[in-house]
Amino acid sequence: MAGKIRNPQSPIRNRQSPIRNGEGRFIVLDGPDGSGKSTQARLLAEQLGKRGLEVLLLREPGGTATGEAVRKLLLQRGEMAISPLAEAFLFQAARAQLTAEVIRPALQRGAWVLCDRFSLSTLVYQGLAGGVCPRAVEELSVLATGGLRPDVYLVLWVPFSVGLQRRAHRAADRMEAKGAKFLRAVAAAYRRESLGAPRRYVLVDGRGTVEAVRERIWRQVAEQLDSPQRHRDTEKAF
Ligand SMILES: Nc1ncnc2c1ncn2[C@@H]1O[C@H](COP(=O)(O)OP(=O)(O)OP(=O)(O)O)[C@@H](O)[C@H]1O
Ligand SMILES: [Mg+2]
Repeated sequence: MAGKIRNPQSPIRNRQSPIRNGEGRFIVLDGPDGSGKSTQARLLAEQLGKRGLEVLLLREPGGTATGEAVRKLLLQRGEMAISPLAEAFLFQAARAQLTAEVIRPALQRGAWVLCDRFSLSTLVYQGLAGGVCPRAVEELSVLATGGLRPDVYLVLWVPFSVGLQRRAHRAADRMEAKGAKFLRAVAAAYRRESLGAPRRYVLVDGRGTVEAVRERIWRQVAEQLDSPQRHRDTEKAF
C-alpha cells in the first residue's frame, strides 16, 4: 500500500502542498548588522497595520519558544563553543519551528508576515562568511522552510562602516563579536548575493535618513497591495 506522508512537518509534503488560499504576504527584511532592519520592520508593520491588514512582526532567530531559546544560545556571548556548522543547524532548527508554527498558519489566515532576517542571513553568516558549504546551507533552508519563499525579500544594505557607526552604542552579540574582518565579509556577501539574484532579492540602499529608507521600502511593498499573491512554495531553485 502506498503510504501517505502524515508528518505535517515533512518538507516533501510541504513542497507538494503550496499555500494557495488567503491573501497574506510574506515579507523579509534582511541585511548586514546595523543596516536598519528592525527600525524599518517596525515602521512597515505600522504602515500596513493602518491599512487594516493583520500584520505579524517576527524576528529570526525567535518568534517561538524554541526559537527564542535558540536565539539565547546563539547570540549570548559566553564560554560555549559553537562552530559555524553547528550554528547553521541551530538557526535552521529555529527557522523550521517558526515556519511551521507561526508563518504558515498566519499566511493561511491572510496575515501579512514581516520577518526581521531569514534564510539569506544563514547563507551569509554561516556559509559565505563562515565557511560552511553555501549549497549545504541553502539545502538546509529548503528543508527548514519546506521551500517557502517570501513574496518580497528585501536586503537593506549599508557599508560595514555605516553599520558599525550605527551600532556603536550597543554591546556586540556573539555574531558581531566575530570581528571587523568577518563583518566586512558579511556586508560584501549580502551585496554580492542580492545583486547576483535580482529575481529573488531586492537590494535597498539603507543609507540616508530613516524616512528616506522607509520610502524606498514602501515603494517595493506598495506593489504587493495591488498585485495578486504569488505562489510562495517553490521547488528548490539552485
Ligand atoms: N537610516 C538611519 N539613519 C541613522 N540611524 C539609523 C537609521 N536606521 C536605523 N538607525 C539607528 O541605527 C541603529 C541600528 O538600527 P536597527 O537596530 O534598526 O538595525 P538592525 O539592522 O536591526 O541592526 P542589527 O543587525 O544589530 O539587528 C539604531 O540605533 C537605529 O536607531
Ligand atoms: Mg535588529
